Amino acid sequence: QAASSLQSVCEPTTYRGDDEIVDLKWDDLGYALVPTDYMYMMKCSINEEFSHGELNRYGNIEMSPGAGVLNYGQGMFEGLKAYRKEDGRVLLFRPEQNAMRMKMGAERMCMPSPSIEQFVDAVKQTVLANKRWVPPPGKGSLYLRPLLMGSGASLGLQPAPEFTFLIYATPVGSYFKEGLAPIKLLVEDEYHRATPGGTGGVKSISNYAPVLKAQAQAKSKGFSDVLFLDSISKKYLEEVASCNVFVVKDKTISTPATRGTILPGITRKSVIDIAIDHGYEVEERPIPVEELFEADEVFCAGTAVVVSPVGSITYQGKSVEYRTGDGSVSRKLYSTLIGIQTGLIKDKMGWTVEI
Ligand code: COI
Repeated sequence: QAASSLQSVCEPTTYRGDDEIVDLKWDDLGYALVPTDYMYMMKCSINEEFSHGELNRYGNIEMSPGAGVLNYGQGMFEGLKAYRKEDGRVLLFRPEQNAMRMKMGAERMCMPSPSIEQFVDAVKQTVLANKRWVPPPGKGSLYLRPLLMGSGASLGLQPAPEFTFLIYATPVGSYFKEGLAPIKLLVEDEYHRATPGGTGGVKSISNYAPVLKAQAQAKSKGFSDVLFLDSISKKYLEEVASCNVFVVKDKTISTPATRGTILPGITRKSVIDIAIDHGYEVEERPIPVEELFEADEVFCAGTAVVVSPVGSITYQGKSVEYRTGDGSVSRKLYSTLIGIQTGLIKDKMGWTVEI
């Protein structure tokens, strides 16, 4: 029996299934948490498998001060989006990929994880329960944030005795304050995001707080985010704090190969497939930082950022500007990806799931 060391303050409930879209200033939507109606929760003890979850009213959760996630960072998260189509149906984008990535990461972080079917079913339930928060077509998406955490208490350093899988949802617009306009990146050469043998290749919560200092310093100088280099040679591109990075030169699109220190992004993987389908050469390889100075374009890719054009990058005081806007490769890839995600372009890859 899983000890109830984490519980929603609110009672389990059945959702209202209210389909009328909430009255929000949809044009002002950014990337801030907007509380919605329901969240999904499922628990299991260390010796069990996840078996039964339920929707609770959205609200604060309680847990022991000794919870593994609070003391030792035993936690992971995922991110995926639901889009409202013109016909009112809602589309999810490759949710089974998030489920698989969470499973892989959970193994690295010594946690049990929901099965692929449980994960996808929980995501669907969460979206349907919060359907009135899915923005109108063209106004954004409902961002789903699945969490997996050691919620049981353990003072000694060991896996937590109880785990909680939770999904909350919030409507979002553009991630960067620039919206769809090009962002400015700073190459970070003091701090690193990940090391070989570490957890950079899984979506562990422990990968995120350590980037905040570099990010804060960059933001105070007017940059949107930081681009990290590898921690061994400090020579090769890794990823941006919040997303993967791509470099375009002529008809070739390159992105750092995922060898354990880089997050295997689902948007990254989808962009690679779309680019190949559009006739580009795609290379996954180590990219020396100097190549930034020869590139035609640089763009970021991630669930939150979708495909964001980079207008300029600064490295060791030297800046370089890139092609952006109509006719750019990043614009083409963005249009195709968002078209598929929102149901405006035929999904010949079979990536979307209608609910
Ligand atoms: C996402 O793109 O969904 C992420 O998890 C990145 C996060 C830093 C917003």
